[in-house]
Amino acid sequence: MTYEHILVRTEAERVGVITLNRPKALNALNSALMDELGAALKAFDADPAIGCIVLTGSEKAFAAGADIAAMAKFEFHEVYRDDFITRNWETIRSIRKPVIAAVAGFALGGGCELAMMCDFIIAADNAKFGQPEIKIGIIPGAGGTQRLPRAVGKSKAMDLVLTGRMMDAQEAERAGLVSRVVPAEKLMDEALAAALTICGYGQLAVMAAKEAVNRAFEGGLSDGVMFERRLFHALFATADQKEGMDAFLTKRAPNFRNA
Ligand code: CAA
Repeated sequence: MTYEHILVRTEAERVGVITLNRPKALNALNSALMDELGAALKAFDADPAIGCIVLTGSEKAFAAGADIAAMAKFEFHEVYRDDFITRNWETIRSIRKPVIAAVAGFALGGGCELAMMCDFIIAADNAKFGQPEIKIGIIPGAGGTQRLPRAVGKSKAMDLVLTGRMMDAQEAERAGLVSRVVPAEKLMDEALAAALTICGYGQLAVMAAKEAVNRAFEGGLSDGVMFERRLFHALFATADQKEGMDAFLTKRAPNFRNA
């Protein structure tokens, strides 16, 4: 499949890399781009050779938000009827393999929300995060008011959402929004190294770990702990669990077969 707004490639035959590519609009997210992103994510998810996906943008912008030019004239009856923003924005949530956001430059509005929909964020030291929608008379519309407070707490989320200010990579790391900050020129190396580490593990355990951690953000503690326990128990039905533990005990590298 050919794409107009994203670039798609494979690294080391195991990592799917998707690069948002609307440089003139700082990777502003429109429906066509989000459709392509959804299709590329689904294709990698379905490819048994791929163990992890990295989503990135340019050095200047991961994504500067939803495309303001595309939505400036929308009326209430249109956005409500078409369920604007959810139609193709949530595909990423259905992806079962890990998705790492490698963020350099601006991650604003929908760009910040897209990064937060990934499983973790590695930030370049020039990254800037924010939910500036308030400045253009709207509020975050792709989960920002829900995911940001879960990531950084109420006070900082309110600060960002109500003032529309940006926070830099260091502040984002202190707040817990990003897992690590790296020099901009090392961003892809770091993201690919993390992805390859993940690819080295059994895919069943990786998928279960992702599913269980995500459950922490969906419901109450007891439900989440019980869900985790069921997945934990289920992994004892896999050959990878036997192989992983035997390899540890016999001091050799495991040979996971995703079975
Ligand atoms: N939508 C459409 N076009 C955008 C855009 C966006 N979100 N962000 C930037 N662009 C375009 C600019 O219009 C400009 O195009 P032209 O060259 O044709 O004029 C080009 O990208 C470069 O942008 P700037 O000249 O503004 O670059 P800058 O370096 O001076 O500023 C910026 C960078 C601070 C990111 C600034 O572009 C900006 O504030 N962008 C808008 C950020 C924003 O409000 N995002 C939230 C959008 S709403 C949303 O996302 C809703 C939701 O929750 C889903």
